[in-house]
Amino acid sequence: MKNISVISGNTTEDLAKKVSRKIGANYVKSEIRVFPDGESKITLSGKISKKRSIVVQSIFPPVDTNLLHALSLIAKARETSSKVTAVIPYMGYARQDREFLPGEIVTMKVLAKLFKGAGASEIVAVDIHSLIGLKHFKFKTKNISAIPDLVRYFKKMRLKEPLVVSPDQGGKERAAEFAKELGSEFIALEKKRDRKSGKVEIKTKNATEVIGRDLILVDDMISTGGSIVKATQFLKKQKCKKIFVACTHALLMNDADKKIRKAGVSKIISANTIPGKTSIVDISNSIAKAIV
Ligand code: R5P
Repeated sequence: MKNISVISGNTTEDLAKKVSRKIGANYVKSEIRVFPDGESKITLSGKISKKRSIVVQSIFPPVDTNLLHALSLIAKARETSSKVTAVIPYMGYARQDREFLPGEIVTMKVLAKLFKGAGASEIVAVDIHSLIGLKHFKFKTKNISAIPDLVRYFKKMRLKEPLVVSPDQGGKERAAEFAKELGSEFIALEKKRDRKSGKVEIKTKNATEVIGRDLILVDDMISTGGSIVKATQFLKKQKCKKIFVACTHALLMNDADKKIRKAGVSKIISANTIPGKTSIVDISNSIAKAIV
């Protein structure tokens, strides 16, 4: 696509470059300098298109800094481009999409206003935690699924009749989509999270379906690893064979990957919405297709 620029933030440079190459856009790099007081100064190098810019920036930790960078890149792009597409591969704050307890601020509502105010014409997210989050945006939104890309990886592993497992009922549809794409079956466990402490418990009593089978635990994201660790401990007690984890966004806070492996997971596979050791599935093709 001629006359389009891809402006990359510093969170997912590699992904932005790949998208840019795939759609034949002009790549614009951002240089970030952080001052001793924590403020950042962003300098762009490259030509910004008058017609359309695509800003690529994930909102993972440091979440508020990366959010401000995304907004700043959008605002800068909008000074030149008449259309700005904000591609947010990992949408931070997406779990704060409704008021769970009285008095809670629905941060996704705030984000929607900020993105609009900065000048975004549309938002493209990848496996956003829930589509409710996108309903707060009063302009065009799109959610891309990384499942076909993740499944392609698992197909190459040639596991024998693996069973897809969601650690909670909220992920049931995701597990169903994964299983359908893989040509396998799925189950969803019952998980309870204490809204105040964040502690997780698996409420399912038994799951005879898993006995003697390799499992693929599928989730949209791993943060502390609590959900996957509890699900793994439960599934191991049910006498399954190997457990693999597939997720889109691997935040892996505080050595979560080590805790997950210690619990008995053989391998964690995630997408490159957040770069890291487990992010081996490239989703640039899916993004490129979605934005043309
Ligand atoms: C929750 O509903 C999400 O889909 C994830 O299961 C959860 O956010 C993962 O967080 P953690 O790794 O801290 O349990």
